[in-house]
Amino acid sequence: MDFLRRFTRQISFKNGLSVHDEKLPQYRLKDVASHCTIESCWMVIRDKVYDFTEFIEYHPGGYELMLEYAGADATTAFDEKPHTIEANAMLDKYLIGVLVKEDRMIS
Ligand code: HEM
Repeated sequence: MDFLRRFTRQISFKNGLSVHDEKLPQYRLKDVASHCTIESCWMVIRDKVYDFTEFIEYHPGGYELMLEYAGADATTAFDEKPHTIEANAMLDKYLIGVLVKEDRMIS
């Protein structure tokens, strides 16, 4: 039960970081596009902008796979691969902002 409570808290925190949160910095797709290398690796997943520079080298699926999507929208690639709840929960750590409304695909 303790685990369940902790888990639920984690999920609600995750859901708290919404693309509609006005406090998050907003970026255009073209801002993300200029961070397309292993030295500076930004990506969009579900309209949120992430800086994976610190993580890319440690990706269990290899850095090459992630690098293909550096500077781009990786939503489909991320969802199509077998990513666990733990992998999804890791995303928040790298969140730096959201896309501006005009560039969003989902919300
Ligand atoms: C950008 C596109 C991405 C692609 C194409 C991709 C692909 C993959 C693949 C193929 C594996 C399986 C490796 C294996 O079992 O040998 C994997 C595992 C994993 N990836 Fe990714 N990945 C991406 C992004 C990410 C991101 C952004 C994170 C987290 C910040 C992440 C975290 C993980 C973790 C933790 C695993 C280990 C298995 C798991 O816990 O799900 N990946 N990835």
